[in-house]
Amino acid sequence: MIDLHCHILPGVDDGASDMEESVAMARFAAAQGITAIVATPHALGGAFANPPVKIRKQVAALQRHLNFLKIPLTLHPGCEVHFCIGLARRIMAGEATFLCENRRYILVEFPFQAVPDGFLKEIHELAVNGITPVIAHPERNTTLCHDFGILQRLFAMGCIFQVNSTSITGGFGDAVMAFSHTLLETRTAHIIASDAHSRDHRPPDLARAVHIARSILGSKGEAMAMVRERPRNILAGEPLDLTEDKFPTRSR
Ligand SMILES: [Fe+2]
Repeated sequence: MIDLHCHILPGVDDGASDMEESVAMARFAAAQGITAIVATPHALGGAFANPPVKIRKQVAALQRHLNFLKIPLTLHPGCEVHFCIGLARRIMAGEATFLCENRRYILVEFPFQAVPDGFLKEIHELAVNGITPVIAHPERNTTLCHDFGILQRLFAMGCIFQVNSTSITGGFGDAVMAFSHTLLETRTAHIIASDAHSRDHRPPDLARAVHIARSILGSKGEAMAMVRERPRNILAGEPLDLTEDKFPTRSR
């Protein structure tokens, strides 16, 4: 499995506090069959800047340490950009780290309470420049939860949606869990990732969520594609094959 969203770098944001915590997260991930992690510290806007040069350096340092400890895990650089006006311009100017640095996919987080004015313009600008926004945990955004139409518009503009494993397993409460299951049922969720921040409180746990997704989707292959084939395509900078997915036409 590949974990596309994980705050594993030590001391750069509100994720792993130090190298010991990063190593504990890495061991947890490797033990359950995760072979690669994209390190996605918060970046742009919000409380953390984390420019690409810093993330690249930190990923290389942690990778060296994991290799030394013989933990079988490959790290890739990435980041989670906080939505802000001017986002597209700043991304294209090289201020944020693309997922695996391939200039094709960027992980974007909206504020939890809202979808900011101007978001469609920023998303459109990214899309016309060949960049696919991967929207992080839409199930945790209260506006998106109550307006399926916005999700449909984002999808039509080329966005894909990443759901947190903890949402699926119920760690963020019943409402978030229910909406994450709806996203699975309606094939609106494309990727499952951990969004892990620590070893104990929010671990890099994909296995339990994939198990639940498998029963909701009625297909082991489809559930595994969300943590294996699709993330692999993203790391390679290749387009995702979503042709068999049926995006819902109904509104909630
Ligand atoms: Fe995150």
